[in-house]
Amino acid sequence: MRFLAVGGGGREHAAVEALRRSGAEVYAAMKNANPGIIAASKKHILCDEKDFAKICAFAKENGVEYAFIGPEAPLEAGIVDALEKEGIRCAAPTKAAARIETSKTFMRELVRKYGIEGNLGFAHFDDAAGAERYLKNIDHEIVVKPVGLTGGKGVKVQGEHLHSFEDTMAYIREIFDNNIGGAGVILEERAIGEEFTQMVFVDGKTIVPLPLVQDHKRAYEGDVGPNTGGMGSYTDSDHLLPFITESERREALKILQQIVDAMAEEGCPYRGTMYGQFMLTVSGPKIIEINARFGDPEAMNVLPILRTGFADICRMMATGTLSGDVEFERKATVCKYVVPRGYGVKSESGHEITVDEEAIRKCGATVYYANVDMKDGRLVTGTSRSVGVIGIADTLEEAESNCEKALAYVRCDAIAVRHDIGTRALVQKRVDHMKALRSA
Ligand code: AMP
Ligand code: GLY
Repeated sequence: MRFLAVGGGGREHAAVEALRRSGAEVYAAMKNANPGIIAASKKHILCDEKDFAKICAFAKENGVEYAFIGPEAPLEAGIVDALEKEGIRCAAPTKAAARIETSKTFMRELVRKYGIEGNLGFAHFDDAAGAERYLKNIDHEIVVKPVGLTGGKGVKVQGEHLHSFEDTMAYIREIFDNNIGGAGVILEERAIGEEFTQMVFVDGKTIVPLPLVQDHKRAYEGDVGPNTGGMGSYTDSDHLLPFITESERREALKILQQIVDAMAEEGCPYRGTMYGQFMLTVSGPKIIEINARFGDPEAMNVLPILRTGFADICRMMATGTLSGDVEFERKATVCKYVVPRGYGVKSESGHEITVDEEAIRKCGATVYYANVDMKDGRLVTGTSRSVGVIGIADTLEEAESNCEKALAYVRCDAIAVRHDIGTRALVQKRVDHMKALRSA
């Protein structure tokens, strides 16, 4: 099978490797020269990931049959609609179906309209004055979100990032003044609990679950600092997480199935990987966001342990023929992202970075290149996350230790890593937090 793969990050490197492992020939389109993707693909072009004319021509020239799209920006711009017009089947949603991510208001209203569990109280505003009147009349904490896409960096939480009415209004005004996310503001009820990611493969009607993952959105150790695209993540060998029960996981899957059913009903059936981010609260899982793609870093946890051929899974998603037998190895994984120093506030980019892939493999780990680029024959950091290092082992502790050993083989003089991700201490803190909430 010949595949087009769009995107040049860590998630896309993991996907291209998985496609190749399952026998596909990959033709890659990305904006940065990701050396991992270049090495794993048959051909590549460097271009704007929303330049459909160029990408469609490249795909046609090379006789591509199927497409995998990594990032949300080309989905929002309608890349799937453009490729499908050319007869290329996509394991990714159309522009209309991608609204489940690209408009937070669309998602919340759909969930409300179909009476699906797990919604949070919310209100949409097109100006700061409306938001101000609303804020004066509520007595609970809220979360401020630009309605459109912000690369995971637009959300601020009262009690954490916003400490007063004035702070909250200042941020809301900043969103409107700078047109952040481009589509207004949504204020959501703040959910308290532990976050988890449940991704599913979807073919328009059927869903197939992936292992549960926990991401770490805050920039600094101890879960403090600004929100980022995600600093790292882990999975456990039983594909659950230590603070969640089987039945709570089933509730999350039921929510995702109902969203898929609702989208078919609305005339925009969903195909591709769907990403459910939930807060596990004492009253069950609550929806934090739904994304129209794999999570990044979460893709780097689950794709290396995927046993079933990824190319086949993509073909089945694209053609509405997904069957229930997708298998993952019973391994634990810990992914820590090496990011440029200052990431989350102001990244210091353009520093040379070296990666000893062979030494990393010997540590029981794997590495995926992300927002790096080739400049004058040297690999340099960009402003977003640089390299994902993933320890893989039978237990979480070994996976974490493998990841730490492997990190020594990524060298750069201006980087940061959240070393606490996947450690026994931090995982135990999550378990204790959930236990305390349940017994209160
Ligand atoms: P998002 O970009 O929507 O994933 O939000 C970034 C982070 O903000 C999430 O990972 C949560 O930690 C937090 N967050 C977002 N929405 C809520 C909410 N309604 N309640 C509590 N925390 C939230
Ligand atoms: N890890 C969060 C995301 O991909 O949106």
